[in-house]
Amino acid sequence: MVKVDLSGASMFFQNMGPDYAEVAAAHRTLAEGSGLGAEFTGWLELPQNIKSGELKQILALAKRVRARSQALVVVGIGGSYLGARAAVDLLRPTRGTDDPDIIFVGNGLSPDSMMDTLSRLGDKDFDLCVISKSGTTLEPALAFRMFKGLLVSKYGAAEAKKRITVVTDANRGVLHDMAVREGWETFVVPDNVGGRFSVLSAVGLVPIAVAGIDVQTVIDCAIDEFRALDLRSPENPAWQYAGARQHLYHNGRSIEILASYEPSFRFFAEWWKQLYGESEGKNGIGIFPASVEFTADLHSMGQFVQDGPRTLFESVVSFEQDLHQFEVPFDMGDPDGLNYLASRQLGDVCRTAMAAVKQAHIDGGVPNIGISVPRRDEAGFASLVCFFELACALSGYVSGVNPFDQPGVEAYKKNMFRMLGKPGAQ
Ligand code: PA5
Repeated sequence: MVKVDLSGASMFFQNMGPDYAEVAAAHRTLAEGSGLGAEFTGWLELPQNIKSGELKQILALAKRVRARSQALVVVGIGGSYLGARAAVDLLRPTRGTDDPDIIFVGNGLSPDSMMDTLSRLGDKDFDLCVISKSGTTLEPALAFRMFKGLLVSKYGAAEAKKRITVVTDANRGVLHDMAVREGWETFVVPDNVGGRFSVLSAVGLVPIAVAGIDVQTVIDCAIDEFRALDLRSPENPAWQYAGARQHLYHNGRSIEILASYEPSFRFFAEWWKQLYGESEGKNGIGIFPASVEFTADLHSMGQFVQDGPRTLFESVVSFEQDLHQFEVPFDMGDPDGLNYLASRQLGDVCRTAMAAVKQAHIDGGVPNIGISVPRRDEAGFASLVCFFELACALSGYVSGVNPFDQPGVEAYKKNMFRMLGKPGAQ
């Protein structure tokens, strides 16, 4: 289970600290399905449902794709993209020789980026997986049209048909209708799961499985983690995190920076930003979610964190055991003066840096919440996903918003479609 360490935050708490009675009420509301957006809380049962449902089909597809293709082009944006990218980057920062290249497209509109992607794809054999709950989001829809064309011109219509997989709504939408018409293999985005909570459905699991990540372990660990996180007590790490961040917010901390010392965590932080930003930033309130990569960003953002406006707190995600060991070599004559570190493990140097940064930031007035899992592996990924999802729902309910809608996302789309001249958008 995830561990939360509030020892670096408690000195900033006021009066009695986090109000766990509020968090308990939020947890009750969520479990009873009596809160705002309760029709979108199906993510709590996703691991169990996928295990008895689509998991076999996902594994079979992954096997076929891995056998015939050197790349999987994954089309999607926002909640239909970030979870898979988070997992692939965190768990497969370097590809194994048998692993296809997972190429994410349709998450922007830059023609230059499209060209870069086409060069990366080159003449590799590839499969195409398009993920869109609505089926109408412009960025992925355009990318799908382009890569579908490429697939057909490379393989011909019949073979292309076998190489297209669609993850979309079970019953409606343009993509759903096209898939039915063309006979493409399809997976479902459940009705009761919003995009940013969908990583443990086919939305995340199809690309994750093709990347060579053990999705059965991810799902089994997620089932255990959600069960453990059902604990109704201040010992529950999700209660501690949700309670602490709401308490800090109400005491002037309106910005949260999620930090990690693992560069491969970068896209997990992007997933987290969407999860918390879209869930909590509404009705004129919300904690602004930002992220940093340490130690690199200590050399760029460190000054601001240490010494800027005292409106932030930091949550630091760490992995207790390193997957690899590197010893600092001894250098005769000590030309660079680093022999005092000779024979120390790089991981120990990193942990010492972490402790030093934590103390410096606390001294500078930045509350520090520690979040850790044993290893950067399938179990660690599953634990972090379940933990952050549950804490997000609890935190949203404590703050009084509907954590499962995103009405603000529509505003730009209306303008854009009108300005592009979409029929009916005038
Ligand atoms: O969380 C959300 O709802 C959004 O980020 C969506 O996932 C994103 O806009 C993509 O939508 P769709 O899957 O309908 O293409």
